[in-house]
Amino acid sequence: MILAAADGDPGAVDGMVTRRAAGLPLELVVGWAEFGGRRILVEPGVFVPRRRTEFLVEQALALAPGASVVVDLCCGSGAVGAALAAALGAVDLHAADIDPAAVRCARRNVAALGGHVHQGDLFDALPARLRGRVDVLAANVPYVPSDEIALLPAEARDHEPRVALDGGADGLDILRRVAAEAPAWLAPGGHLLIETSPHQAPGALSAFTESGLDAHLAVCEERPARVVIGRRP
Ligand SMILES: C[S@@+](CC[C@H](N)C(=O)[O-])C[C@H]1O[C@@H](n2cnc3c(N)ncnc32)[C@H](O)[C@@H]1O
Repeated sequence: MILAAADGDPGAVDGMVTRRAAGLPLELVVGWAEFGGRRILVEPGVFVPRRRTEFLVEQALALAPGASVVVDLCCGSGAVGAALAAALGAVDLHAADIDPAAVRCARRNVAALGGHVHQGDLFDALPARLRGRVDVLAANVPYVPSDEIALLPAEARDHEPRVALDGGADGLDILRRVAAEAPAWLAPGGHLLIETSPHQAPGALSAFTESGLDAHLAVCEERPARVVIGRRP
């Protein structure tokens, strides 16, 4: 149904069905994913935004409804930043990713919302003028332990880049780096939000508190989703 609706040309639909049957994720076949009530453009080689990550967006909006500076770190397609900017209205939105394919894709999704997209390693990508001014720092970082990547469903394992999945030995390598540097970028009272998994949550909370943030865990059982939230005192 989605494939048929995606293109009126029966030949093109046949090609899409073939690619889907070969295992390409549906979102990459049709070129978009639904996220936060919006169509987010996705391209081959870019992480497909997951619906569970809408919980992170909802938490950010509940904590900071008046946010004016928003950063989407490890932005992938830019889905999180786009959803936040769409809900918040006039914000200074910055998204960043290390992968050029993700940066290209994110630009397509956040340009209409006035967002800026930067390429580089975590905070190195951001303009220095944002230091100490960020109200919401959202980061859906890679968090699959390296030796569990082989156990992922083929759609992720074979069609999403390793850099989007691999969180190091315990899955927390990137999270720890973000937590350590976040206080220097957050405004007083600003929030850092990172998605995590049940067994990683204790380690993630420790990383937040060790960096001086007031931390807690938000849990959504339905999706299911867990988000570690830290507030700069
Ligand atoms: C799990 S994906 C999440 C993408 C997007 N935030 C979302 O929720 O759909 C993680 C993203 O982090 C990026 N990434 C990995 N290591 C990075 C680093 N050191 N600096 C910046 N981005 C990085 C990957 O390229 C990938 O796009």
